[in-house]
Amino acid sequence: MKLRTLADIAELEGKKVLVRVDFNVPINKKGEVQDDTRIRAAIPTIEHLREKGAKIILISHLGRPSAGELEEHLRLNHVAHRLSEILAMPIKKMDTVLGEKVKNCIKEMKNGEIVILENIRSHSEERKCEDWFVEELSELGEIFISDAFGTAHRHHASTCGLADKLPAYAGLLMEKEIAALSPLLKECEKPLTMIFGGAKIDTKIGVIKNFLDKADHFLIGGGIANTFLYAQGHDVGTSLCEEDKKETALEILEKGGAKVLLPSDVVVATEISTTAEAQTVSAEEVSGEMKILDIGANSAEEFCEIIKKSKTIIWNGPVGLYEFPQFGNGTKIIAECIATHECTSILGGGDTSDAVKRLGIPKEKFTHISTGGGAAIEFLEGKTLPGIKCLLAN
Ligand code: 3PG
Repeated sequence: MKLRTLADIAELEGKKVLVRVDFNVPINKKGEVQDDTRIRAAIPTIEHLREKGAKIILISHLGRPSAGELEEHLRLNHVAHRLSEILAMPIKKMDTVLGEKVKNCIKEMKNGEIVILENIRSHSEERKCEDWFVEELSELGEIFISDAFGTAHRHHASTCGLADKLPAYAGLLMEKEIAALSPLLKECEKPLTMIFGGAKIDTKIGVIKNFLDKADHFLIGGGIANTFLYAQGHDVGTSLCEEDKKETALEILEKGGAKVLLPSDVVVATEISTTAEAQTVSAEEVSGEMKILDIGANSAEEFCEIIKKSKTIIWNGPVGLYEFPQFGNGTKIIAECIATHECTSILGGGDTSDAVKRLGIPKEKFTHISTGGGAAIEFLEGKTLPGIKCLLAN
């Protein structure tokens, strides 16, 4: 996969560059940025453009606003503030995406300055990739750079539409993500172990199927394990479970055979709260009001035995409700095991990186922590993502 990259741009000085970033970051109740990982991940591209004297116009989405309505907490004010703190420089934040004010502000920009447009999803035309919208957006710049790997699976105006109107290049984060994930689709050191957690089986099916022949082990925890246990005929009490996905789970269990490992013991409680009383039971003992909220210590041990023998590990989704101390042990044991084991380790999904961060494990302990959730998964399904396809060199 050969991309057009920043190195291919002949001249950046004084150029108005539209940069699509993925600043879709968690915002806390006070409206502040809770985790700035994605903002920091875009800094190398932004710094490069500043050094070269470009005029940087940042475009991002935040959340999924309903058409025509932009709630205050989905404006990019706090994101802009955080970026300005990180870069220790002022950032001009626009209250709209298009319009005279935006045009005038861009006209007055000096080399190296940064302007950030309002949440691009304040226009429903973004998601529909409507031509008039792409056209007007493109008129704000001369070059398009996409650094939004996390949104590369979306066919939107600002993720790929702009590439039809302007010379388009991949930013440094986009390059880094693709370089880290691409080898997994071809040759990677074996044994290859994939660990899946999180809530929904649907989002993981494609990638599991794509790796059924390539991977040696699939370790399943989190909410999706409940669906597998249910498909095997176990009572899962009142646990999160996608009963309608039973056939899909059975198909994977049948095709994967001994490669698929489910938890043999689980941590259960009858409520989800910080004061909930947790107990560990075997997967066969779940019943009544019990909710499965983590894998048990024996399962974590079994998972670690396999992790320790693996040369490559792909991990997507915590194996328990790690935000609650009683249900975070499985995720902790697995994260620490991967971090201390000599292997290529690729982590994906916002929750996985958040869990690792909360545990205080330095990111350098892993080979790569992807900023992509859905995008990383779809990439590993073997799909050509629209936000990447438009950046490919002919
Ligand atoms: C993500 O958080 O995975 C990306 O920012 C994409 O967001 P979306 O799923 O709302 O398109």
